[in-house]
Amino acid sequence: MKRRDFIKKSALAGAGLSILPGIDGLQQEALAATRPKHPVVISSGNGLEAVKKAMSMIKGGSDTLDAVIAGVNIVEDDPDDLTVGYGGLPNEDGVVELDSSVMHGPTHNAGAVASIRNIKNPSKVAKLVMERTDHVLIVGEGALRFARAHGFKEEDLLTDKTRKIWLKWKENLNSKDDWLPGPEDEYSQLLEQYREVYGTINCCAVDTNGDLSGVTTTSGLSFKIPGRVGDSPIIGAGLFVDNEVGAAGSTGRGEANLKNLCSFLVVEFMRMGKSPEEACIQTCQRIADNTKMAMLLDDNGRPNFNVKFYAVNKKGQFGAAAIYEGGNFCVADAKGARHEDIAYLFKRKK
Ligand code: GLY
Repeated sequence: MKRRDFIKKSALAGAGLSILPGIDGLQQEALAATRPKHPVVISSGNGLEAVKKAMSMIKGGSDTLDAVIAGVNIVEDDPDDLTVGYGGLPNEDGVVELDSSVMHGPTHNAGAVASIRNIKNPSKVAKLVMERTDHVLIVGEGALRFARAHGFKEEDLLTDKTRKIWLKWKENLNSKDDWLPGPEDEYSQLLEQYREVYGTINCCAVDTNGDLSGVTTTSGLSFKIPGRVGDSPIIGAGLFVDNEVGAAGSTGRGEANLKNLCSFLVVEFMRMGKSPEEACIQTCQRIADNTKMAMLLDDNGRPNFNVKFYAVNKKGQFGAAAIYEGGNFCVADAKGARHEDIAYLFKRKK
């Protein structure tokens, strides 16, 4: 098939026009019974506004991918979320580098950018990588040039607040260098809170056709080595969608996820019949089982880090789980938008 024909065919599938021609009325009814009666959108705990926005767009007829991207754009634009987009914490040089991926269920297509600088909405660039290139992932300088070619405005993503937290980190890094620590202030506390934070937002949705999409976007690990890429832009790790099964994404320590391809695993567990929550729990267990390096284990032999998963299946059932108890996730469904407690594998040690 020629590339342009492929693109045309994909566009038809995306519009829902190629599903099961010729099935009779009874089969149509049986099919409808397996579809959600109402759209469902889920996200990490920082995405209440994102799930509200995505839900209102899906109800208005938008494609699930456009809806979840518009949802996370609110968080990318928010200077008060220090783990995503504008106002995200920078790398060790004080430069913000962003990672994002998107995946569209109906076309099984995906796009991503990693280590992109100066662009507030990497999720929008990831969608253009999906739609306007024959690639899946573009990184660094290439991603920035690609965004520029598509008219994205470059801006400094470091805010005064994140610059001051970074400076505090830099000044306190090494007692033998020439940077002298300033006085204790509000940024000292913020530094303790954000010293090794992975943050991130994931948002996934299913509409009443059973069509699914997802997006993950992040500034990644705070004060990372420049060029460090986490799980968020890696399809199968930070995000995976299979339109026959469900969608899943993650937040937390990306390195653990990269070694286990966890979002793919969550979807595969759902394919085997597990509920979204159980699929997320089993995936946390997989990380715990595969964490063997002493530096990553606590006194109980358990991971000394956290990872969280969020999943929704084609029927609209949803769930989320973390390795450790605590925290919540967001959902919007027929009952409205809200936070719910996240399930967990291990209780915290007292
Ligand atoms: N999960 C986000 C990161 O590790 O970069």
